[in-house]
Amino acid sequence: MGVIFHKTAQQFHLFNNKISYVIGICPDGEVGHLYFGKRIHEDQILVDEQTRGIRPLCCNRKENEDYTKELAMLEYPAFGNGDFRSPAYEVQQDNGSRVTNLVYVSHNIYPGKKRIPGLPASYVNVETEATTLELRCLDEVAGMDVTLFYTIWENYPVISRYAKIHNVGKTTFVINKASSVCLDFYDNEYEWMQFEGAWGRERYPKVRNLSTGSSSIESMRGHSSASYNPFVIVKRKNTDEHMGEAIGIHLVYSGNFRAKAETDMYGKLRVTMGINPRWFAWPLAPGEEFYTPEALLEFTQNGLNDLSQTIHSFLNHQMVRSPYKGKGRPILLNNWEATEMDFDEEKILRIARKGQEAGVELFVLDDGWFGKRNDDYAGLGDWFVNTDKLPEGIKGLSEKVNALGLQFGLWIEPEMVNEDSDLYRAHPDWVLAAPNRPRSLGRHQMVLDYSKPEVVDAIYDMLYQVISTANISYIKWDMNRSITECYSQGAPATEQGTIYHKYIKGVYSLYERLIAAFPEILFESCASGGARFDAGMLYYAPQAWCSDDTDGHERVKIQYGTSYGYPIASMGAHISASPNLQTGRDIAIDDRANIACFGTFGYELDLNEISEEEFQKVKEQIVFMKEYRELFQYGNLYRLRSPFEKNIAAWMVVSEDRKDAIVVTYKTLKTPNVGIDRIKLQGLNPDAKYRINGGQTTYGDYLMEVGIPTQDGEESWFYSDGDFSSRKYILKSEVTN
Ligand code: DGJ
Repeated sequence: MGVIFHKTAQQFHLFNNKISYVIGICPDGEVGHLYFGKRIHEDQILVDEQTRGIRPLCCNRKENEDYTKELAMLEYPAFGNGDFRSPAYEVQQDNGSRVTNLVYVSHNIYPGKKRIPGLPASYVNVETEATTLELRCLDEVAGMDVTLFYTIWENYPVISRYAKIHNVGKTTFVINKASSVCLDFYDNEYEWMQFEGAWGRERYPKVRNLSTGSSSIESMRGHSSASYNPFVIVKRKNTDEHMGEAIGIHLVYSGNFRAKAETDMYGKLRVTMGINPRWFAWPLAPGEEFYTPEALLEFTQNGLNDLSQTIHSFLNHQMVRSPYKGKGRPILLNNWEATEMDFDEEKILRIARKGQEAGVELFVLDDGWFGKRNDDYAGLGDWFVNTDKLPEGIKGLSEKVNALGLQFGLWIEPEMVNEDSDLYRAHPDWVLAAPNRPRSLGRHQMVLDYSKPEVVDAIYDMLYQVISTANISYIKWDMNRSITECYSQGAPATEQGTIYHKYIKGVYSLYERLIAAFPEILFESCASGGARFDAGMLYYAPQAWCSDDTDGHERVKIQYGTSYGYPIASMGAHISASPNLQTGRDIAIDDRANIACFGTFGYELDLNEISEEEFQKVKEQIVFMKEYRELFQYGNLYRLRSPFEKNIAAWMVVSEDRKDAIVVTYKTLKTPNVGIDRIKLQGLNPDAKYRINGGQTTYGDYLMEVGIPTQDGEESWFYSDGDFSSRKYILKSEVTN
C-alpha cells in the first residue's frame, strides 16, 4: 500500500493490493484523473490520449492548443474555463467573476490520516493502516488555495477524499459549491443504484440507467433524509450480487446533499457528490479555511455482496468510535410503542420487570419524560424531568431499573423546541424562522438554531445535568422534523447561506461534547425512524433506528436495502406488537424475530401483553440472540435473494472462519402447487460439512452449488408455510476455513 509520485510523468499512483487510483497533472496545470479500479502496476505510466487535438466548438488555451479540457478527466474541475460539465466547486469573487482555474503547486505524502475539523470522517487506529496524499492547488487571481486530500487504506479497496479551501488572497470570496468528490469515468456504460423512500419505507434500492443527460438525488431537508440516502453505487450493467464491477460512494455527512451523475456528448460519465449547492453560500474571508465533508469511494470487481462486505467492515473499523465498536450490541426493550407518552413510574417498571424476566439487557425510556410532555404540543426544549410522571426523577428510575440488573437508556430530541416550552418563552429568537413570514411547524415543533453556539451550549448544559446525575448507558437521539424557513434570526444577510451547514456542524459539536463527557454511553441516532441514517452519523452514534415501520414484512425490505451501504451492527431492529401499529399486519413472533436478528435486536412492546406461549418464545429468542449476535452483527453478510424481486427472499451471515452461518428465508405470500424452489448459499467452505439445525450434515459445495429447498417436498403443493413466514437455518461445521 502507498502512494508513488512519478516525477517526470507528473503522476501519482495510490495503490494497495486490490485497487489503484491514478492522478496526473494536466497541460493547463489542473489535477486530472487517470484511473480508479482494480490494481495495476504502480510503475506503469498512464497515457491520456483522448484530450488531444482541436475539435469544433471546444475552447482551448492558446499556449496548450493541443489540450481540450472538456474531454479531460478531472479531479476537482472548475467552472467557466472550458469544461462544460458540472464543476466540482464554484466561487463568486468580489468582482463578480465565477471563473477560476486551480493549478497544481505541490504535494505531500505521509502515513496515516488527519481528522477534519468539526466534521465526521474515517480515521486510522494506527498510522500504518493508511497513506495520505495532499495535493495543493492554487488560483492566484482569486487567492484561493485548495488542498485535495486522498487516503488509501492498507486493508480496504477504499479511497477517502475531501478538500480544504483556504483564502490566501486579500478579498473575501463566496463558495457556492464545494463537492467532496468528483469522479470521471472513461465511458458511460453504467447504472447507478440509489436508496430511496419515505417515512416507513426507507432505503429501498432502485437502479437507474445513466446513458443520457443528468440524474441526481438530493436532500434539502436539513438532514440526509428518508427520501434519498447519501450513498450511491455506480455499477456496470451486468453487475449483480455475486459478480461484476461497482463503485460505492458515501458522503460522510448528515445535512443537505446532492449526488449527481452526468453523461456528456462524448459518452463519458462524471459523478459529483457533496453538500447540496442549493442555498449554500459560504463567505470565506482572507485567512479563513473551509473543509468539505469526506466522501468514501469503495471498489469491487466481485459484485454487490462483496462491495457491501467491504463497506460493512470499513465503517465498523474506521468510522465507528464507540466503546461498542466491534462488540455485540445490548438487547433492548423500548417503551415507545407500548405507552407512547402516557406512563408513570410504576407502568414503566412493570414493563422493565417483564423485560428482565425475558432476559433483555437494556431498558430504554422513550419520549415523554421531561417538561410538560404529555403530547406532541409541549415540552421539547425543557430537558428537566417531569416529576408528576417520575417523582424520583431519571436518577430514581434508572436506579430501580439498574436494580433489576438492566442497563438504563434515555430518549432525547435536543434539536427541537415546542412553542409551549419554557425554553421558547425565554428565547423566541433561538429558532430558525424567516423574518415577517409564517413559520411551518412539523409535529407541532420548531427547529432550534444550532448555528448559534449559545443554543448548543444551553442544550448541552441541560442534558449534562440529567445525564450526569443518573446512570445512563444508552441515548436515543431523535429528530422529528425537517428544516424549513432556514434563516438565523439576528445573523447578517451574508451569513444566511451558511446556516444549513452550520446547523449540522452544531449537531455534530453537541454529539462530540456529550461523547467526551460520557464516553461509555451507546448512542443510537433516529429521525422519525430512519431519516438521518448516514455514514456521518455513524461516527457519533454507532447504531441508527432503521424505521418507525416495525412491521416484519416491511422491515425485510428496509433492512435489506439498508444493508447495501451500512453494516448490520448499525441497524436498529426491534420486534413490536402484532397486529403491527403501522400496517395492521399480523406476523408470528418468531418470524418477526428472524427478521430483527439482522440488526441490533430488541423489543418495542409491552411483554406483559403477549400470551404466555409467545413470552416463552421471546425468552428463547433472547437466548438465541445472545449466542449469535456477534455472528449476525459482524459476520459476512450475503444477500441471496431480494424481497423486491421474488416472493421468497433470503440472506445469510457467515463467520470469518466459515465455521458458522445462519440463513433466513422469508416468504411474502403462500402460493399453492409450486415447484421446489432452491436457494444457493454463499461464502461457505466448500470442503467442510455443515450440520444444519442440529440435523443432517451437508458439504458446503452442495449447499452453494445445489442449494437448499425453500419449502418441504410434500407440503409444497398446498400446505406450504403461510403468508409472511420465515425459516431459519443454523449451519455449524467442525472444519476451519
Ligand atoms: C420517532 C421515533 O422514530 C420513535 O421511535 C419514537 O422515539 C418517537 N419519535 C417518539 O416521539
